[in-house]
Amino acid sequence: MNVLVTGGLGYIGSHTCIQMLEAGIKPVIFDNLYNSNESVLGRIEMVTGASPIFVKGDVRDKEKLIKVLKEQSISAVVHFAGLKAVGESVEKPLEYYDNNVNGTLVLVDAMREVGVKSLVFSSSATVYGDPASVPITEEFPTSATNPYGRSKLMVEECLTDFQKANSEWSITLLRYFNPVGAHPSGQLGEDPSGIPNNLMPFVSQVAVGRREYLSVFGDDYPTKDGTGVRDYIHVMDLSDGHVCALNKVGQTSGLHIYNLGTGNGYSVLEMVSAFEKASGKKVPYKIAPRRPGDIAECWADPSKAQRELNWKAERTLQQMTTDTWYWQSNNPNGYPDH
Ligand code: NAD
Ligand code: UD1
Repeated sequence: MNVLVTGGLGYIGSHTCIQMLEAGIKPVIFDNLYNSNESVLGRIEMVTGASPIFVKGDVRDKEKLIKVLKEQSISAVVHFAGLKAVGESVEKPLEYYDNNVNGTLVLVDAMREVGVKSLVFSSSATVYGDPASVPITEEFPTSATNPYGRSKLMVEECLTDFQKANSEWSITLLRYFNPVGAHPSGQLGEDPSGIPNNLMPFVSQVAVGRREYLSVFGDDYPTKDGTGVRDYIHVMDLSDGHVCALNKVGQTSGLHIYNLGTGNGYSVLEMVSAFEKASGKKVPYKIAPRRPGDIAECWADPSKAQRELNWKAERTLQQMTTDTWYWQSNNPNGYPDH
């Protein structure tokens, strides 16, 4: 099976390409390099021994997409490409709607023209807004609190309507909880540009000496230790979830929605302490005010994916922190030239 992977050089896309290659699926990477680096291709090759085809392109370029879909005999698309920084989305909403919403519409239009009818979309637990309770099932009401989240919700709604009108299509919405970790080889990992927005990249940059201390955003939440609780999932488990989705429902018409999480919640302080254990480094932190828009706690009920995709997150918190540290300590400044 040849699968077009948009955003395949990014954090989650690159790990998923590795797991696809291991599973005998051939990824064709389509990425505009906005938030990634071509050197990732060499890393994928180093780990798998295979060199995936790479086409530099933007998902808003319909003609280029049509050409690749035809030339590479693509049978399904996994769509990671997009922008993902919540704070930036508030400053630049138009860019977010253009890349994330318009980009997806152009992609689906190109697929329709070529007759490729299987799509797996990267959605997010952000579509649950501030959930009324935990754990969160796929039936929970959806809402958005910022342009990034709204762009994911809008795409989900567009794809739902489209699938209704085109019942022979298979469309899968994967709602990721908090991806962390790295490939266990230490060759691939998360490499945010600028100051990291997310917890784990920030913690690992403190441990490696690139930043002085972590600001813990709030210690007065109604949680086990007052700090925010999230469902952190190893990026390799998340990647396996895509392979399972492609194999189990990728060829079955319908709209398929799954939470990809572990079902466990860890607090900020628990993550810091696990990271210190894995790295042997001290992670100094200071308590800071709550970050606007943050919720107290959020974790998944992942049982639907287990039931229907035969997928379950297997990797432990220790593997998440150990692999993050191995990647960060081997690549203190991330990929070259990023
Ligand atoms: P990433 O930024 O590392 O990867 C995204 C890739 O898409 C990058 O390589 C970038 O160059 C490319 N890209 C961006 N706009 C493009 C465009 N218009 N055309 C072609 N390529 C384009 O992000 P990631 O963490 O790997 O996330 C992948 C997807 O998963 C995103 O859609 C993101 O919103 C979603 N997601 C991520 C998280 C997370 O915490 N990382 C959580 C939930 C959902
Ligand atoms: C963020 C995004 C969400 C996105 C998700 C992807 C916001 C408001 N939400 O969620 O849309 O889908 O990432 O993984 O940005 N924290 C600190 N100090 C830091 C960074 C984070 O204390 O420097 C805390 C946060 O307050 C939170 C936890 O760590 O309690 C996790 O934060 P983060 O990694 O940014 O993820 P989310 O807030 O879940």
